Amino acid sequence: MNTKTQILKNTKKNILEVVKRLKMGEIIALPTETVYGLAGRYDLDSTIKNIYYIKNRPKHNPLIIHYANASDALKDIHIDSRAIKLAKEFWPGALTIVARVKNKSISKLALSKLETVAVRVPSNKTMLAILNKLKIPLAAPSANRYGKISPTSAKDVCEELNGKISFILDGSFSTIGLESTVIDLTTKESIILRHGGINKNQINKITPINDKKVSKKIISSPGLSHSHYSPDASMRINAVRPKKNEAWLAFGNTPNNFSGVALSLSKKKCLKECARNLYKMLRSLDNREVSKIAVQKIPEIGLGVAINDRLRRAAHLKTNK
Ligand code: TXA
Ligand code: MG
Repeated sequence: MNTKTQILKNTKKNILEVVKRLKMGEIIALPTETVYGLAGRYDLDSTIKNIYYIKNRPKHNPLIIHYANASDALKDIHIDSRAIKLAKEFWPGALTIVARVKNKSISKLALSKLETVAVRVPSNKTMLAILNKLKIPLAAPSANRYGKISPTSAKDVCEELNGKISFILDGSFSTIGLESTVIDLTTKESIILRHGGINKNQINKITPINDKKVSKKIISSPGLSHSHYSPDASMRINAVRPKKNEAWLAFGNTPNNFSGVALSLSKKKCLKECARNLYKMLRSLDNREVSKIAVQKIPEIGLGVAINDRLRRAAHLKTNK
């Protein structure tokens, strides 16, 4: 497919146009607070099929369904007290709940034919305005080519999918910059399938997480395969200082005496800022065509768990080529 891709400004008129097109089954890239999504109606097989095609995503990797509010989302799944408490605490926001599916109109392709579904209520105002006007939930994976870094701005989406989609709605930068946390509530124990914008300690305060069961469950969440979130450059993580031929991603100040490319994920060592900058900076280093990136060690606490998870995946692919 070779389509002219247009970035639409975030105006009332454009939002109405986007809603009209989505209703007709079109696929449009939309902003969320985590990362941009490639959105289409949750109930149309042909639309869902095309989302997989555009992303080059394997069919066995199910999509997240996005809702305008918690009560609509909870209606579509089999709920228990955990789901209700988590929804109340974290929605709208960066938490995705996996539970047994109840609504039969969700496209089976979006669910990869599983009996479970991943649901979320995003907090981005533009996305919520669209969901509220459309009155139909939207299936939306991250708007990147499969295995690549998720986009956190309209321009990033354009780099990823230029010529493959007609419209991207500009909703400025994603304020979190990392994907949502995916929590599995299909068994008695609650399990984090993917670390993300809401950290484990925050969830533990609402409902206890079982950390030990994760490895068995990974198969049910193919997005957790190792080869993901990958820049083109090779990656060295947990680094102490850069080598001569590497670009440097610092956590804290960049070194004065280094002649190579150096960026700081957060000068003040703030994990929120680091998460917001991670994909943006990896992408900008790729654009400068650096071949090696070294990333300074980032603490494995709070949001640092999700940040390190993405860094390990990005590094794993390269060392296993
Ligand atoms: O922040 C986000 O979650 C973004 C924005 C656009 O909402 N979306 C996103 O979607 O990251 P995607 O498709 O790139 O990742 C969805 C993850 C995948 O790891 C997928 O395997 C998992 O959710 N998932 C979806 N449905 C599932 C299910 N029924 N059971 C287990 N995992 C599921
Ligand atoms: Mg993704």
